[in-house]
Amino acid sequence: MSDLKLGDKAPNFDAETSEGKINFYEFLGDGWGILFSHPADYTPVCTTELGVTAKYKEKFEKRDVKVMALSVDGVESHKGWIEDINSTQDTTVNFPIIADEDRKIANLYGMIHPKADNTLTVRSVFIIDPEKTIKLMITYPASTGRNFDELLRVIDSLQLTANHKVATPANWKNGEDVVISPAISSEDAKDIFPKGFKEVKPYLRMTPQPDKQ
Ligand code: BEZ
Repeated sequence: MSDLKLGDKAPNFDAETSEGKINFYEFLGDGWGILFSHPADYTPVCTTELGVTAKYKEKFEKRDVKVMALSVDGVESHKGWIEDINSTQDTTVNFPIIADEDRKIANLYGMIHPKADNTLTVRSVFIIDPEKTIKLMITYPASTGRNFDELLRVIDSLQLTANHKVATPANWKNGEDVVISPAISSEDAKDIFPKGFKEVKPYLRMTPQPDKQ
């Protein structure tokens, strides 16, 4: 059973995929990554999820994010299902789907939760930064399709907070005010945040979103 935590190095692997053999780290290169599992091919929720993922290609590219899906079905099953996704979701699947028939990668990443389902993967999501560090892990049940706008929102937050001494508040969206890191004194904040800031409480200081670097 995997015991991966935030801050751990994302394990590398070689995989059979719908696009041939792929080494995960080589696929990611120097950019960000999303690795996400779904329970099974030819299922309705998964079909909509992979359709949305394909349609978000430009949104992922803009953020330098590469996406890879995984289920425990085989390559031929993936290829047949991709045709269904393309025709029913009006898109073209443009990312690899891992065929993890021996569950090696699913077990490496803890994507099988035996009390939910003994053999199939749940809906796990991992966001991985350019240093291959795991920055986010979320697990959804099979019956709930994921919100891919939320994943983009988290990536925007992670990319902003990687470069600026800020954090993003509840329900924040790209472009909205952010909070200044508690580690920064208000004296230092005057220099660091030229757009100014509002001190609601000494520990709660709001500033306009800094420009992304
Ligand atoms: C689905 O993708 O629709 C699904 C898969 C497994 C269980 C329930 C729903």
